[in-house]
Amino acid sequence: MRTQLKRFIDQMEENSIAIIPAAHEQTRSYDTEFKFRQDSDFWYLTGFPEPDAIAVIDPQNKKSPYTLYVRPRDLEMETWFGRREGVDGAVKNYKANKAFSIDKFAADLPKLLDGHDKLYYRFSVDRGLDTQILDYLSGQRFRRLKTAYPPHTIIDPTIILGEMRLHKTSEEAAMMQTAATIAADAHILAMKKVKPGMNEGQVEAMMEAFMKDKGANGVAYNSIIGGGANATILHYVENNMPLKDGDLILIDAGAEYKGYASDITRTFPVNGKFTPAQREVYDVVLDVQLKCIDYTKTGNTVKGRQEYSIELLTEGMVKLGLLKGKTKDLIKKKAYMKYYMHGVGHYLGLDVHDAGRYFTDQAAKNSRRFAPGMVLTVEPGIYVPPDDKSAPAKYRGIGIRIEDDVLVTEDGNRNLTAKVTKDPDEIEALMNGRKR
Ligand code: GLY
Ligand code: MN
Ligand code: MN
Repeated sequence: MRTQLKRFIDQMEENSIAIIPAAHEQTRSYDTEFKFRQDSDFWYLTGFPEPDAIAVIDPQNKKSPYTLYVRPRDLEMETWFGRREGVDGAVKNYKANKAFSIDKFAADLPKLLDGHDKLYYRFSVDRGLDTQILDYLSGQRFRRLKTAYPPHTIIDPTIILGEMRLHKTSEEAAMMQTAATIAADAHILAMKKVKPGMNEGQVEAMMEAFMKDKGANGVAYNSIIGGGANATILHYVENNMPLKDGDLILIDAGAEYKGYASDITRTFPVNGKFTPAQREVYDVVLDVQLKCIDYTKTGNTVKGRQEYSIELLTEGMVKLGLLKGKTKDLIKKKAYMKYYMHGVGHYLGLDVHDAGRYFTDQAAKNSRRFAPGMVLTVEPGIYVPPDDKSAPAKYRGIGIRIEDDVLVTEDGNRNLTAKVTKDPDEIEALMNGRKR
């Protein structure tokens, strides 16, 4: 049995059972689908790559604790839409103790669930399955405990799974390093190739092709390739405008490798040379980013890091003349929100904004402490709207973010994306062929 599944079982409560669904294909238009992406929790536990499957985990069933319901083999369907593992493949290649056709699942539910006190199931992810489970529960409850014994307690399995996924094993850290290295190399390529007159979409295409060529499944999220003031739109994904001489380009692009994401942002001059004004803002963001990376170590808290980034960026905004007043007052008034409106980072893993709680008590008072095995991004930024009359004219339309992925270790952290430079002089040297 896969280690993750075994560790999940070890944490399940007495006399409980878990139902974990795979993702379904999603329509893109009419009868074509988006490229399939497995559900992260299901992938983490089973490693099974196909849609429309369900894992049933029943530790009380000593002989067969792990059952997979999967799409059955079907020659005609496979000829049209691709290979299937089928029931035999699920057992042989994915170590399920038993496997059945997914078509049998609804009818099997009473047999599976009855007699268990507790059910691990996350409502609201898969509405179709929600309905099947609710129909089962209401049917069995109606029959009272004469002939039926439905679970009386429903537990969200992500309580266990989020905690597991948050703390990466060394195998996971190695896969994340690969995802990070592929994306870092794609950013290096972009720095070497970007020129005035190129279109943002060409940069996007070049980076994605590179990532796939190096073994990534593709991008981990839609790349953000913003020239000039497009960089001030946080989730700009149109990526269809020409890059102008004298502008900056902000690239936020990461690779997905074996399901694991990387998430890198670099901002650099389209023509290979920062203007003095661009450099002034850049130096502020870089300084904050380096300090926040140092802060991301065992014992410090997520909330403390956010506050630290706000304090440093507010000081920087005052220094630049974007804000006027005392840092303390400006923080209290949240004046920085005009130019820095997002978090300094997030958990990273199978999801780009990965699973795991940021607060460790219900009242959301106790912020999580960094611990070895956690991977977080560090991504401060300053975004000056192009029409911001209160900002010095030279800074209007400048958007800068610098983002790395950091693995917390026993004695500090390891920057998984250090390979792609963010030093402004080194960026210029790389862009102008003075550095390989
Ligand atoms: N690329 C998404 C993010 O940085 O959070
Ligand atoms: Mn990020
Ligand atoms: Mn990002």
